[in-house]
Amino acid sequence: MNGKKCDRSYFNYITDIVHATADPNPYKKPAGMSLEDFCDLRVGELRDKILEIGPDRVACFIAEPVMGSGGVIVPPPGYHKKTLDVCREYDVLYISDEVVTAFGRLGHYFASEDVFGIVPDIITVAKGITSGYQPLGAAIISDTLVNRISGDAASENSYYTNGFTYSGHPVTCAAALKYLEIMKRDKINDHVLDVGSHFMKRLKTLKEFPIVGDVRGVCLMACVECMVSDNEQENIAVAQRVDAHCQEKGLIVRPYENLCILSPPLIIDKAGADRIVDILSDSIIATMNEMESIAI
Ligand SMILES: Cc1ncc(COP(=O)(O)O)c(C=O)c1O
Repeated sequence: MNGKKCDRSYFNYITDIVHATADPNPYKKPAGMSLEDFCDLRVGELRDKILEIGPDRVACFIAEPVMGSGGVIVPPPGYHKKTLDVCREYDVLYISDEVVTAFGRLGHYFASEDVFGIVPDIITVAKGITSGYQPLGAAIISDTLVNRISGDAASENSYYTNGFTYSGHPVTCAAALKYLEIMKRDKINDHVLDVGSHFMKRLKTLKEFPIVGDVRGVCLMACVECMVSDNEQENIAVAQRVDAHCQEKGLIVRPYENLCILSPPLIIDKAGADRIVDILSDSIIATMNEMESIAI
């Protein structure tokens, strides 16, 4: 993507099978619109899409509690609850993709219920389930759904089955069990809630810089959005500049388009969180100075 216009075409997919709704990013809401109206607008778009396709032809709705790669998008209050209600109304399954958010990043085992108050039909998990030490993913299916496929509520001769060559691999599962034991023993969730609220509070102070458009996130999943102009290309360059300065000072952020994405380790302490914010702050100042000298 370096030096080229940001091209989203590599995200293309078969549009008559997979459909996307617009992202519920409060920072991008139309000027003058309340957060609640913006939420209802996005939820209404889901309803319209289901009706356009035909509810009988829609298998499921997939959403991340906080969208990761899409730009750490924390939806407006009530968005998940309202989209789940729409799914229930049309008997569309709700799948919560918690590959990033489960097992501690937001200070809970699962973000769907503990952070956003919803109980999905399926939750997908990976990364955090072993703290990344072994490759393991899982789909967690609700009792209600399994019962509809295999149990008393199922039609005759219908049953749920699924398997991969390495399903339930003993080594990766041992790593997951050990990590879950450590999570519980060391009260990782409590630690993340404590450090995470400190981290977000300090990170939000970066909003004072003119090139910082938005700072958002939950606990240890965060993003600093840089905006220098309406020109998409200039914005992309600025995140890369901030990242380069951060790396010189020992901090790795993930520059994604105009976003600096941060996923500190769950065991980071408050001093470590402060150091991240200090380095970012210095790097933003260095970037602003650099851009000023380019402009001259
Ligand atoms: C939210 C989310 N879902 C799914 C995936 C892909 O997971 P997997 O590689 O296990 O298919 C990723 C990878 O980064 C992700 O961030």
